[in-house]
Amino acid sequence: MKNSAPIGFLDSGIGGSTVLTKTLALLPNENYVFFSDSANCPYGDKSDEEIIERCDKIVSLLINDYNCKAIVIACNTASAKASAYLRKKYSLPIIAIEPAYKMVYDRNPDGFTLVMATNGTLESEKFHKLYYKYNNHKTALIACVGLADIIEHGTKAELSDYLDKTLDEYKGKAQNVVLGCTHYPLAKKEIKNVLGDVEFFDGANGVSRQLKRVLDEKDLLSDSKEKGNVTFIDSSLDGKVREEKKNRFFKIISEEHI
Ligand code: DGL
Repeated sequence: MKNSAPIGFLDSGIGGSTVLTKTLALLPNENYVFFSDSANCPYGDKSDEEIIERCDKIVSLLINDYNCKAIVIACNTASAKASAYLRKKYSLPIIAIEPAYKMVYDRNPDGFTLVMATNGTLESEKFHKLYYKYNNHKTALIACVGLADIIEHGTKAELSDYLDKTLDEYKGKAQNVVLGCTHYPLAKKEIKNVLGDVEFFDGANGVSRQLKRVLDEKDLLSDSKEKGNVTFIDSSLDGKVREEKKNRFFKIISEEHI
């Protein structure tokens, strides 16, 4: 395996760009291939079998067509449902993400906490284990059905409307907000508009550090002194949609404030 081989990222859409942004800051000289499965977005309410089948196809493409040296599942739902299967099937390093609930336990366990995530993530065994281990007994779990879809395809007005309806009862009460879906950091501003001043927690930095550790351990870190490149692939059959996704994706990863 060559050290200059790219790292494959996958998500149901462009949400995983919020993870890649952090990884680029940590490992700028790596090459990346990002797969956005927008033809099948959202993953949040799909069955385990459907998600495993999609992820298997994507990982196999990232390995066979792009020669990726490692995979980052930049999607909480796919991580919860498919990471065990993928790790059993493929021998390359596979890094998964989970809602940053342990971070709350480490930093502000006394604060009232919202965990926002998809249905798929919240119902998963992987999340149950995490939740019962670090439960602060001041937590509301919010299955944000349809939110990733609105962030992916909707308007600003639809987004504000959705968040108003879903979060209004926690206004002035929530202190910690776990963004348990990689799309949600794209709505931080709108979430704050409803909840006021809250602290956000997400797993993007942790995943990036874990990726660096694993590549280092396996002697797979790039030895290039130059900035690497990023390739974007989207599964939509509609060329116009693919172009729009691509533009939005590159805009997000060029913004450092996420
Ligand atoms: N971005 C994803 C996640 O982190 C998936 C959202 C969806 O497709 O429902 O869970």
